[in-house]
Parts: sequence; C-alpha cells; structure tokens
Amino acid sequence: DLGRVGDELELPVYAIGGFARDLLLGGKNDDIDISVEGDGILFAETFANRHGCRIKSHAKFGTAVIVFPDKAKIDVASTRLEYYETPGALPTVERSSLKMDLYRRDFTVNTLAVRLNPQNFGLLIDYFGACRDLKDKTIRVLHNLSFVEDPTRVFRAVRFEQRLNFQIARHTENLIRNAVKMGFLDKLGGRRLLNELIIILREREPVRAILRMESLGLLRFIHPDLVLDSENIRILDEVKKVVTWFELLYQQDNVETWVVYFLALTSLVSDDSFWETCTRLSVSEHYRERLIDMRVHGEQVLKVMEQKAARENTVRRSDIFFWLRSLSLEVLLYIMAKTRREDVRKFISLYVTQLRGVSCSVTGDDLKSMGLPPGPRYREVLDVVLKARLNGEVSTHADELLLAR
Ligand code: CTP
Repeated sequence: DLGRVGDELELPVYAIGGFARDLLLGGKNDDIDISVEGDGILFAETFANRHGCRIKSHAKFGTAVIVFPDKAKIDVASTRLEYYETPGALPTVERSSLKMDLYRRDFTVNTLAVRLNPQNFGLLIDYFGACRDLKDKTIRVLHNLSFVEDPTRVFRAVRFEQRLNFQIARHTENLIRNAVKMGFLDKLGGRRLLNELIIILREREPVRAILRMESLGLLRFIHPDLVLDSENIRILDEVKKVVTWFELLYQQDNVETWVVYFLALTSLVSDDSFWETCTRLSVSEHYRERLIDMRVHGEQVLKVMEQKAARENTVRRSDIFFWLRSLSLEVLLYIMAKTRREDVRKFISLYVTQLRGVSCSVTGDDLKSMGLPPGPRYREVLDVVLKARLNGEVSTHADELLLAR
C-alpha cells in the first residue's frame, strides 16, 4: 500500500538502502527504508492514518518513522526538505533528487532504489553501479571523501564485507588506510565507535571482522594495547564455538553475545587498559562498572576452578554450582572459551546445561513455620539443603525438610 498512498499524493516512492540490497541478494531484511521524492512527512502521516500506525517525525530533516501496532517500523526520508526559518515565514524548500539522496550514501551496494508506486512497481533504479558491485561482491565508496565525511563508514565497510562475504575494493581500502594514517578516526566520538563495535560483535562472524579490523589498523583506535596475538585469536575462536553451542541449545535465552566477544577481545589487556578502552568507547559509568566486574569476577572464578581441577581428581557438583552461580551467562561463556582445561570447560557446560536450573523445594516459608527467626541463617540453611540436593544426598521434599531441621 506504500506505493498506492504515493500515487494518491502524486509522490514517487522508493524502497532503498539495505532493504533493496538484500532483496537483490535474496536475503531477508525487515528494516524498510523509504525515500519519497517530495514531502516524506506528509506521506508518512497519510499512510499512518490509514493503517492505524503512529509516526515520529523530524520536520527539520524531512524524516519520519512509521510505527505499526506490533512495533514494526518503516523509516521514511524526503528528497525534498521544507522548513520554516522563523515562525510565520514562508517555508524554505530545498529540492533534491533521488539521485542526490543516494549519492550521499556510504557504499554503492546501498544505493539501489526499488520503485513502489503501482505504475512501474518493482522498477530497479541503479545510478552508481550497485548491481555490478553486488555481482562482483565488492564494497566500494561513491567518492573519495566518504570516510572523511563519516569515519564510522570504515567500520561499516568491514561489517558489510564480512557479513556479505564481499571484498572491499582496492581503492576503497586505500582510502581506509589513508583515513587511518591521517588520524581521521581520532575524531570519531566514543559513542559512535561503540555503536559500530557492538553491531560488528553482534554479527554472525565477528572473529573474521575483528581480524580484518586488525589488518587495517583499526583496533588501535579503540585502544593502542588491543593487538591480536595467537592466544587472543584462540580465545575469540573458542567464543564463536561456545556461543554457537549455546544458541543451538537455548534459543530462547537472551545472551548479549557482543559482551562475550568484547570480554574476549580485551581479555589480555591490563585492567588499566580495559578501563581506558571503556572510557574511549564512552561506555556509561554504570555499564563500565558492570563490565569490569564481569571481567574481574570471571577471571577469579576461573582461576579457582583451574587450580582445584589441577589438584583434585573429583569435583563435586555443588562446588561447581557455588563457584558459578553469581556469574552471568555472558561471563560463563567467556570463561568457558578462555580456559585451556578441558575438565573446567566440562564443569561450566554442566552448570549451564543442568546445574543452574537446580533449586531446593524447601523455602523460607518452611523455615519460618519451623520457628527459625528470619535472618541470614535462612540463606545458610537453604544453601546446605541445596548443596545436598545438588550432590544427590536428598531428593524429596520430606528429606530436605529433615535436613533443614
Ligand atoms: N548510511 C550511510 N552512512 C552511514 C550510515 C548509514 O550512508 N554512516 C546509509 C547507508 O547507505 C544505509 C542507510 O544509510 O543503506 C541505512 O543505514 P543502516 O540502517 O545503518 O544500514 P543498512 O544498510 O540498512 O544495514 P543493516 O542491513 O545492517 O540494517
């Protein structure tokens, strides 16, 4: 119906960007970006009214987001901007064409437009050789100043290259190396850099992208100590295996995989450098504390487990449980990847697959009805019962009550 609304308002409407790119590549992309040759906000309002959607618009930029009741979104941009310099004055109108709009984009493969108006529906518009580059699997900028205008594009180039299994064109790669040499990336704000890094670490193949960033000299813009050696690469490769294993088993569990990769990437730098990395990336104070705690706590627990495993032949299930129970899934997966000991990896996998779900059936209320006054004793007693249950020493509620007594 987007095209029909366009016709009613006599506005040409196009699907552009990643949506058009992935359509041609045969992949799926739920983010629809629309470009309207004319007043995009009027278009978005009309469409939204008809479909019971909300819109959020930015008159100054001529953009709007259509939000459907199920939260699906469509981004709408105008190639004609209309704004009022002063209240009551006539609007200033800036006209631009679809072609100009597409020329401002990062890479040729993102410059396709698909017409949505019923007449010529599906017509593919390719001003800048996008089809050729999609066929040749090439990531290419549209002009030499692209990375100067927006240094985040350096990271986007790596992301698209790795995700699509493309190759950054030679001239484009030279421009990246030049941007690195000239220090353009220093100007990149921490938040934007963090956003790009998170998106990369959430992709399917972050390790390849990390290696590529290293080869282009990009990691040192995050922190000079971020240099990959074979141990670092081993840990990152293990993270990939562990995350894949976990996602296959627990599709419903929400794990922030980027955090696991981030901990692995920074695994071998000092605590001070880790702190500086978070500062460079403008990680909020609260989240920085959390990340540092994850890292320090994870390392401590891992050390204890490795020492114990090296010394003793058998480790009890309750020991594994109490070592690991305060760690988040992200940290569990990180230390599982980091350890070189097969037995410790098995302990962590046992905890993730079985032990973390174990609880005792005795509750605080049971203890209360036994006459135990509420206080820290509750926790101790419940832990004793839980320990017995984990080690198979009790299995029924009655046994647990007896033990609690
Ligand atoms: N864009 C750009 N420069 C940037 C960011 C975005 O030129 N620094 C352009 C790109 O051409 C892109 C469009 O804005 O196609 C939309 O951006 P985004 O949603 O980030 O990119 P997608 O291509 O949709 O990527 P993804 O598939 O990861 O959503």
